[in-house]
Amino acid sequence: MRKGALEQNPSHQKTVKTFDLETYLKGKQQKVNAALVKLWEDAHTPPTPLIPAMQYSLLGEGKRLRPILCIAACEAVGGREAEVMPAACALELIHTYSLIHDDLPAMDDDDFRRARPTCHKAFDEATAILAGDALLTAAFEALADAGRRERRETLKWLEAIYLIARAAGCFGMVQGQMMDVSSEGKVISLEELKELQQLKTGALIEASVRTGALLGGGSSQEMAALGVYGRHIGLAFQVADDILNVEGKPEMLGKPVGSDQALQKATGASLMGLEQAKARAAELIDSALEEIKIFGTKKEPLAALARYVIEREK
Ligand code: IPE
Ligand code: IPE
Ligand code: MG
Ligand code: MG
Repeated sequence: MRKGALEQNPSHQKTVKTFDLETYLKGKQQKVNAALVKLWEDAHTPPTPLIPAMQYSLLGEGKRLRPILCIAACEAVGGREAEVMPAACALELIHTYSLIHDDLPAMDDDDFRRARPTCHKAFDEATAILAGDALLTAAFEALADAGRRERRETLKWLEAIYLIARAAGCFGMVQGQMMDVSSEGKVISLEELKELQQLKTGALIEASVRTGALLGGGSSQEMAALGVYGRHIGLAFQVADDILNVEGKPEMLGKPVGSDQALQKATGASLMGLEQAKARAAELIDSALEEIKIFGTKKEPLAALARYVIEREK
């Protein structure tokens, strides 16, 4: 707009402040990154590549979506960012471990991740496996540490540990990964595909939102709504990830494309076609947006994050 145009037209003087997702994401990413950097800042450890390998994968160009969703849910119910930061970090630690293991030759055998060579390429396979193991363990260390420090909130943290462990293990992400590798080269039903996507990716995203709502002190109505919101966007996130593996640009994504087809993975693109997969993702986001109406104007970040899940290019 031309400078001075606002003053010339008084009806425009009341400009409505719209929510700017880009600025929001940048701000939250910076805070999460700062907290992640601190985790092993003062560690005096033997001169092995373990912590360097953990930091190498963790501090690459990740979107930090899970921690940001955790913080956004916490703030939507009236909690504060600082209170929930250990949980936000723990979610990113678990996610990063899952990426390191997902890229191993025994799994997807990928060479690039977060715009740099994968952990097993930059270090070696044994180091990558151990870095993943240590990141997973560090996540629960961070959660338990927060629980024992905040004596009045210990039970809430215990609940968060349970919620995250259920989502990450054999009833969640790891089971989803098992289904993913087991379905290579096979045709599975759409119901099975939904379960696979829900477990391998949706579960941890849903847990991120639920954890934020829980630690932020949400009411049971708020927690229920956010749980359903998290479930929908979590599933949509994997549907979009599969679409980006076909249509995305590797230089934007920081990881290869076309690998799902090469490995004959069961994806939305392979089982229902791109157009139907896109329509499905959009429906899921509409359902998620419906759930958060109860938050009124406080829903803005969560609503923008939901749209971002399917509109993103990386
Ligand atoms: C990629 O996750 C792997 C999936 C679970 C689909 P992200 O797209 O969130 O990866 P980063 O954290 O930004 O690297
Ligand atoms: C990764 O799924 C899921 C987990 C790491 C739990 P994908 O294998 O489909 O994701 P990308 O495409 O490698 O990021
Ligand atoms: Mg995989
Ligand atoms: Mg993969």
